[in-house]
Amino acid sequence: MARFTKESIERVRDAVDMVGVVSPRTELRRAGGDRWQGRCPFHDERTPSFGISPSKKMYHCFGCGAGGDVFRFVQETEGLDFADAVQALAERFNIELVHEAEDPQAAERRRRRERLHELLERTAAFYVRHLWESDEAARARAYLAERGLEEATLREFRVGYAPSRWDTVMLASQRSGFGAKELYDAGLVQRPQGGGRVYDRFRAQITFPLCDPRGRVLGFAGRRMDDGRGPKYLNSPEGDLFHKGAMVFGADLARAHAAKAGQVIAAEGYTDVLALHQGGLHNAVGIMGTALTEEQVGELSRLAPTVLLALDADSAGEAAMVRAAQVAAGRRLELRVVPLPEGLDPADLIARDGAGAMRAAVERSVAFVRFRVERALRTGDLSSAEGKDVVLGELRPVLAPLPASVLREELTRLIADRMDLEPETVTSLLGRTDGRARAGAGAVARGGGAGGRAAGGGKVDGSPPPPARPALERREHAERAFLAYCIALPGLGREALSELEPERDLTGELSRRVAAHLLEHLDQPTADLPDDDPTLASLLAELTVRADRLTASPAAFEAQRLQLALARSERELAAARSAGTSVAELARRREELRIRFDAAIQRANEEGSHPDAVT
Ligand code: CTP
Ligand code: MN
Repeated sequence: MARFTKESIERVRDAVDMVGVVSPRTELRRAGGDRWQGRCPFHDERTPSFGISPSKKMYHCFGCGAGGDVFRFVQETEGLDFADAVQALAERFNIELVHEAEDPQAAERRRRRERLHELLERTAAFYVRHLWESDEAARARAYLAERGLEEATLREFRVGYAPSRWDTVMLASQRSGFGAKELYDAGLVQRPQGGGRVYDRFRAQITFPLCDPRGRVLGFAGRRMDDGRGPKYLNSPEGDLFHKGAMVFGADLARAHAAKAGQVIAAEGYTDVLALHQGGLHNAVGIMGTALTEEQVGELSRLAPTVLLALDADSAGEAAMVRAAQVAAGRRLELRVVPLPEGLDPADLIARDGAGAMRAAVERSVAFVRFRVERALRTGDLSSAEGKDVVLGELRPVLAPLPASVLREELTRLIADRMDLEPETVTSLLGRTDGRARAGAGAVARGGGAGGRAAGGGKVDGSPPPPARPALERREHAERAFLAYCIALPGLGREALSELEPERDLTGELSRRVAAHLLEHLDQPTADLPDDDPTLASLLAELTVRADRLTASPAAFEAQRLQLALARSERELAAARSAGTSVAELARRREELRIRFDAAIQRANEEGSHPDAVT
């Protein structure tokens, strides 16, 4: 889609009633000034830590870190992308959007893609009609019903049926004006090997549309009903639009639920996802087979901070979980494993024991490390010293990233019990870790600290406690507090920002980006945000809401500013010491800054505003 002009986007922003947009998602009450607050619609909480600024059209949650402008709010709560969110608000508040002029080549590409999208949408609708209306599909309807899938669920996922003839879709599409090349590019027809007439790719199969996160059809999966030779599922070929490895099945339908729950359930197959949704677990998506890709893990982490792996409890499924952990390592993503009875996938379990059994399994999810430990103990040879050494060797990298915690203690005791060793022996054989190492095979890569989103309920072992906040993070906090003050007191802020040497005064890359943006946009901090930098947008939102809360006095601002200068001076001093150069001048300067800092704090206290209330 051609981009909307900045100017027309700003008119939408101006017209929006922020309270009206947010209210349907959570009850808001006025909290004084330009601030309304309520319980966060993005995570479960009892006490309200979510706030909006109606005049700035921003929201922020101090509990889970969600935040941004009104467009982001609509994106997140409705699962839309930026352009669609803008469009939805423009319609609601009656503002006409204007497209930017496009260069002819880009316009051509866009038109071509739009045609393919349209073709795929029409085909999806055609398959759905065919499933419910044709005689030919009677067997498919019976098959789906027998599997316990209800019409409402099948319609929600737009499950359909592809006719058995060789050319139904081809002829129908051509009658509607689509060319052979378009049919081919959309993956709907294929050419026989060695040339000849093209024919429909999906025939006599139940069809599942595979959609992007906005719900636009990119391709299909066809499932055969017989159990003959050949694969059970046939997917669209890789093409301009469809990339299987980049897709998570059902993300469009699960997004809002996953965001709310703070958890996303990852199952393997299409029918699992349908059965889970039908059973009330609307935050479920499918990873479409076992070879999880980086891109899919990225998409999962965009859906929720916690991923519950509900994969078949066979060895392929277990291998998939280990692989998931490897791909997830180093990301801020908590992986948990849903225990399923051996040989059953979620669809099987729900069909056999009902949705309640599945929900109970989800409630019993265990941290990925615990799953790994239990698996190693179950499958390893614990009857000999050599066997135990092998198992311990396997577990060393799994436990290494786990900080000192109750969970760690418990797992150590479990291993000791099963190996008939003293816990101290196990600890020393596993090698002491300082609890700070993060990388490795484990996937308990949740960051502690203020930016981390709280996971939703349903935890059994509790995650390890967050490690003590490292110095770097403390520094970033001070930098952010300073930036919030710049917004709160734009007069002083502008002066401070223009005198700032970002490379020296700020350590955080993000802080530097914010400072650069604020220097240009201090009056309207959230204007002209780059569309492709959500982190920047979210931090600016956070800082804007914070700024509103500050009872900022010039003295407090001064203290905040001096704190940065002091930190810089400490760094320079440390660098000079380790380089062996003269430190006298630097030490004198630091002393002077400290005196000024103390004085500013004193004044701020007298004026009743506390600079560190925001750090
Ligand atoms: N898959 C695939 N191509 C195949 C086999 C499997 O794309 N040839 C993907 C599909 O997304 C499928 C998933 O892997 O849903 C899991 O495969 P499998 O467990 O074999 O099928 P189920 O999902 O259990 O299918 P059903 O319940 O219909 O039997
Ligand atoms: Mn199955």
